[in-house]
Amino acid sequence: MKKTIALLTSTLLFTTFAAKAAEPLALQQVMKELGKNMQIATDGISREDWSTVEQAAHKIASHPEAPLDEKVRITGFMGSNMVKFKAFDGQTHRAAHEMAEAAELKNGQKVIAAFQKLQSACLSCHQAYRPAFVKHFYENTK
Ligand code: HEC
Repeated sequence: MKKTIALLTSTLLFTTFAAKAAEPLALQQVMKELGKNMQIATDGISREDWSTVEQAAHKIASHPEAPLDEKVRITGFMGSNMVKFKAFDGQTHRAAHEMAEAAELKNGQKVIAAFQKLQSACLSCHQAYRPAFVKHFYENTK
C-alpha cells in the first residue's frame, strides 16, 4: 500500500513537472510585482510621498507565495541551498517592513537606508541563484 502511494505520488509529480516544464513559474509573476512596487517606492521617495512608499513597502513585505506544487519543484531543485534562499527572502521581508515603518514616520533618510537594504537583499538572491534557476526551469526544457 505504501509503495503504491509512493509510486502514485511520484507519477503525479512527474506529470506535473512534464506538463509545466516550459511555462513561466508563478514566482516570476511575484517577482514582476516586486519590481513594480520597487519602482513605485522610488518614485514615492522622489516626491516625498510617504504614504505611497508605505503602501508599496507593505505590498513587497506581503508578496504572495508560490503555489504548493511549485514550491515542491523549487525545493527539489534548490536542495540544501533552500535554507539560504529562504534567508534572502527573510531579509527582503524585514527590510520591507523597516521601509514601511520609516515611511509611516515620514523619515526620508531611514526610508532610503531601508530601501538600500531591500535592494541588496534582492540583488544577493539574484546573484546567488537566478542564473542557475532560470537555466534549470526554462533553458533545459527547450
Ligand atoms: C529568495 C530569492 C529572491 C529574492 C529575495 C528576490 N528575488 Fe527576484 N528573482 C528570483 C528568481 C529565482 C528569479 C527568476 C524567476 C523566474 O524567471 O522564474 C527572479 C526574478 C526577478 C525579476 C525578473 C522577472 C522577469 O520578468 O523575468 C525581477 C524584476 C525581480 N526578480 C525582482 C525582485 C525584487 C525587486 C526583489 C526584492 C524586493 C527580489 N526580486 C527578490 C529570486 C529572488
